[in-house]
Amino acid sequence: MPTISDQTDLFRKKLLGKTGKISDKTLEMHLGIYAVQVRRAKELLAAVEKEDLPEEGALPGSLFRANRLDLSYCLCAARSHELYFQILGGSGAAPQGKLREWIDRDFGSLGRFLRDLRATALASDSWAWSCLDPASGRLFNLLGDPRGGLPLWGGLPLIALDMEDHAFLLDFGQDRAAYLDSLLGQIDWEAVASRLPLL
Ligand SMILES: [Fe+2]
Repeated sequence: MPTISDQTDLFRKKLLGKTGKISDKTLEMHLGIYAVQVRRAKELLAAVEKEDLPEEGALPGSLFRANRLDLSYCLCAARSHELYFQILGGSGAAPQGKLREWIDRDFGSLGRFLRDLRATALASDSWAWSCLDPASGRLFNLLGDPRGGLPLWGGLPLIALDMEDHAFLLDFGQDRAAYLDSLLGQIDWEAVASRLPLL
C-alpha cells in the first residue's frame, strides 16, 4: 500500500556540513520540523481513514473538516520542505542544458531569473517557488501564504525557498536577504534539472 515517507535521514546524510552559512544546528532543527509534518500527516491520514462521515449538517466546524484542512497543510508543508532540502547544498555552478534554455527563454537571462526569484522570496512570509506550468509551457516564480501549497494547479515545482523565520533566524538574525543570498548561491541545479519532464 502506498504510504507517506519520511526522508529525514536521506536529507541529513546529503546536507550536514554542506549548506554554507546555514548551520548544521539550523539544518537539524529544520529537519525536525519536517519530520513532525510528515508524522502529523500520517496521523491525520489514519484519523481520516477511520472516521465515520458526520451528518451533513454537522460538517461545518467539525473535527472532520479540521482534520482534512490540517492533512492538506501538513502534506503541502512536507512536500515543500522535501523540495527545499533536495535543492540545497549544491556547488553554485550555473544551470545548464534544457533548464538553462528555458530560464533564458522565459526570463531573458539567468541573472534576471535569479533577481525575480529573489524579489519573490523576499516578498513572501513563508514559501517561494519556481515552477513549470505545463499548461502554458513556461516557468513562473510564485509565492504563497503560510498554510498554502504551490498556488498553481498542475504546476511542477522546481525550486522551493523557505522564508519562514525558523529557516534563518539562528544564523542570520533578521537579515533575510543574507540568508536568501546564501540559499540562492547553493542551489543544486542538477537536482532542479532532474525534475524537468523528459522531452
Ligand atoms: Fe521550514
